[in-house]
Amino acid sequence: MHGRRSRDELSLDGPWRFRLLDRPGDAPDDFAEPEFPDDDWDEIAVPGDWAPEGFSKPAYLNVVMPFALDPPEVPEQNPTGLYRRSFRLPSGWRRRRVSLRIGAAESVVHAWVNGVEVGFGKDSRLPSEFDVTELLRSGLNSVALAVVQWSDASWIEDQDQWWMPGIHRSVSLVSTSPTYLADVVLLPGLDAERTGSLDATVVVAGRDLGAGWQVDVAVSDDRGRRVGGLGPSPVVAFEYGEPLTELISGMYFEGSVVRGRIEVPGSRPWSHEDPYRHLAVVTLRDADGEVVDVSEHLIGFRSVDIRDNELLINGAPVLIVGVNHHEHDPDRGRVMTDELLRRDLELMKAHHVNAVRAAHYPHDERFYDLCDELGLYVIDEANVESHARQASLCHDPRYFAAIVERGVRMVQRDRNHPSIIAWSLGNESGYGAPHDAMAAAIRRLDPTRPLHYEGPLMHDLHAEAPVTDIVCPMYSSIDAIVDWARSGRDHRRPLILCEFSHAMGNSNGSLADYFVAFEQEHGLQGGFIWEWVDHGVRVRDEAGREWFGYGGDFGEPVHDGNFCCDGLVSPDRVPHPALAELRSLAQPMRVTTARPGWLRVENRRWFTTSGDLRARWELIDGTGRVTARGRLDVPAVPPRGHREVRAPVVADGQLLTVRWFARGESDPVAWSQIGDVPEPAAARRRRAGISLGESGVSVDDVGIAWPELSVYRAPTDNDGIRTGWMDGVGVRGRWHAWGLHRPRPEAGPLRRRGGVVTRRVEWHTRVDGAPILHRQRIELIDGAAVFVEDVDIPAVYDDLARIGIGFVLPAGFEQLDWLGLGPHETYPDRRSAEFGRWRSSVVDQYVDYVLPQHHGHHHDTRWFELRDPTRGGVRVAADRPVGFSALHHSIGDLEAARHTVDLPRRDEIFVHVDVAHRGVGTASCGPDTLPRYRVGPGRYRWRWTITPVR
Ligand code: GAL
Ligand code: MG
Repeated sequence: MHGRRSRDELSLDGPWRFRLLDRPGDAPDDFAEPEFPDDDWDEIAVPGDWAPEGFSKPAYLNVVMPFALDPPEVPEQNPTGLYRRSFRLPSGWRRRRVSLRIGAAESVVHAWVNGVEVGFGKDSRLPSEFDVTELLRSGLNSVALAVVQWSDASWIEDQDQWWMPGIHRSVSLVSTSPTYLADVVLLPGLDAERTGSLDATVVVAGRDLGAGWQVDVAVSDDRGRRVGGLGPSPVVAFEYGEPLTELISGMYFEGSVVRGRIEVPGSRPWSHEDPYRHLAVVTLRDADGEVVDVSEHLIGFRSVDIRDNELLINGAPVLIVGVNHHEHDPDRGRVMTDELLRRDLELMKAHHVNAVRAAHYPHDERFYDLCDELGLYVIDEANVESHARQASLCHDPRYFAAIVERGVRMVQRDRNHPSIIAWSLGNESGYGAPHDAMAAAIRRLDPTRPLHYEGPLMHDLHAEAPVTDIVCPMYSSIDAIVDWARSGRDHRRPLILCEFSHAMGNSNGSLADYFVAFEQEHGLQGGFIWEWVDHGVRVRDEAGREWFGYGGDFGEPVHDGNFCCDGLVSPDRVPHPALAELRSLAQPMRVTTARPGWLRVENRRWFTTSGDLRARWELIDGTGRVTARGRLDVPAVPPRGHREVRAPVVADGQLLTVRWFARGESDPVAWSQIGDVPEPAAARRRRAGISLGESGVSVDDVGIAWPELSVYRAPTDNDGIRTGWMDGVGVRGRWHAWGLHRPRPEAGPLRRRGGVVTRRVEWHTRVDGAPILHRQRIELIDGAAVFVEDVDIPAVYDDLARIGIGFVLPAGFEQLDWLGLGPHETYPDRRSAEFGRWRSSVVDQYVDYVLPQHHGHHHDTRWFELRDPTRGGVRVAADRPVGFSALHHSIGDLEAARHTVDLPRRDEIFVHVDVAHRGVGTASCGPDTLPRYRVGPGRYRWRWTITPVR
């Protein structure tokens, strides 16, 4: 249940006495006694995980369990944390009902109050609540808790994340009147005529309940005006024939209920675009009409339906632009502060993300309140993952009840939230009877929301699986989902990927291609990127250096390396470049050419006109400079509609950019570019000073060794960096087998004829008889060094990182300007970025992926300049668009480094100019770079220049 209540809460957060033992049996028999001497115990913060609080080490494993046992066994060595503290019972609580509430503890928590055991709880992602009324005394009271790391339940909490035990959510005492609102269920709905509804079930429990007690519900808008409700209704004794599911948790046994349906005609709906909420106040009155208990809920009217292969939200097939979210703080483990939770969700909104899957467990309650407030659709997921034993545990009767209960308790806690649009039965737990039972139970508890479960679809997208109303596979290829859509075999369910586009390191290639499929194929309705945040753990050394650690950094004997660092944002929430790609693809406005002289303006939003946005345009010429700009007057475009408007005067060879701004904002919410990329103008600031020497090109006194062929890059996670788990993944293994990382160049004699220098280099690798041949011709023309390159790649090298030229510039040429895509790094398969003229510095080209890897490439570049503001510098251009990078890190440095602190930052600048570059793909978990973004063998010939500029 959420919302404020007429109840008092006494927070027990803060320092507790703490002792960490090796096993539960080591606990002193009397440790829970109020008088037990704990003066020499440690202190720990609650909430707080043991590792970040300094008592243990985190350990990262993806699939396998950290012990070689069979379920439900757990190791003898079983870290156990004992907690103690006391509190004063607030005056006025003596005659009230009081419960002890433990927000979440991993994996099992036992509780005592004043020395008396009150129970234990499992499911380390849901609260455990104990009625302790009878045990409290006035004045000082004591609470003792024992948190045991491993239990039978660990086998169904085998999610891909750090093992990080502790108490990670708040602990409190909650007091209510002796007879109280035990549960308030307000299932939101909305019909096609905009009548909002709430299916209300109010459960009243407690000893004083008798004839004449009443409940009413009042619904008001955000100005406090009453818009509907349920008049005073008698509280009816609980009937025994109530749904079984309500009884599974045992919660309502003593309860009585009021049921009713509230309707609010003409209501303002809740959606991700307009998360408008109403306030519902539930009041319990006794026979004299005195208010006994009140509970307040911020609710939203909205509908969720599945029809004709579409998931409809308020009737519209909203494209799901989703991310998977884990609760992770680089300094606090699973403990999420209010600020960090809000920051995550606001960052998502700012990047046009509209949905979030609570992967892979119910999140802290504050998460759902924020999603309601900010407008994010949620798939709420039961805390069930038996990955290590997913084929068997789902058929093990000993786990049946626990699995079912986890879904049921999640729904009971969260069902009033308008943001939740579907219930997920868990993750990677196979498919068996408990899933059928959980599905049935949830449908009973909440008939309004669809169910989501990937288990039965794991090997077959077409599997008949009544437990899931959404076809929600993970990491399917574009071909596979398009085939599914075109097969037309499923007439009801939409396909929404529960995980796709694995964001590990420099990744998320072909996101745009997925979006094309979503847009074009009926039934494909988006998905949830894996995942939001890198689970790096902040580490500091004595020298004060900081970096993010991953699996294996904390002495774990078995671990899965950096596979936990696969987010769109870094552990400290700095967006990776791929997040900008996602934002571009999910823009709310789109402008294209309608016909000569006319623009087609599309409103991509589902419920909102474009009336709140203003458009501005600008033109750039071949130097990248803006030659004209103005306002584009567009009458409000209806949701999902379009209009044609006259284009500003555009000459051939000019590029028009249209940007959309919300009132008072200077960052555009959307942008489009139309027209031709202008022919690049020659360098205007060119100057003399270039010469061809024996060992290379010189610009004044600056020597640049002969630029050399380059076909290799520092592997990305998708290319397959070796960090344990990733062995065998990606194309890196082949590159190394061929020996491309260490080729042996054999340069022929330098030939000079007139002003022309020619070179011929044979690049030998481990592949006998297949040297890569590179012929180079260099000439000074108009004060520029002109290179003509001719490269023969033998057929054996059928998948290369790049074809290009690399050279090293000495220190100092720090200022970087370019005309091309930007401002962040782009790749052939991740290039939804603005074309224009960009300025940066070489230092700022660094992208600090947790595991250092190739980065900083700029696809589709017309020219770039590297300059020292006082000395001048060089401009590089080619006879075709190229990709380039300019970094203080060499390929070798990047490949060798395992953490950001291992990576030396050299003064010199490593420059690459590529005529072909392999896309980044997503091979670390999912499809590799599509064939059309790969680099193959053959003959490559091109011409490029280095021009000295001021
Ligand atoms: C999925 C799983 C996630 C995560 C991901 C890879 O199989 O559901 O929890 O492990 O792959 O990062
Ligand atoms: Mg897993």
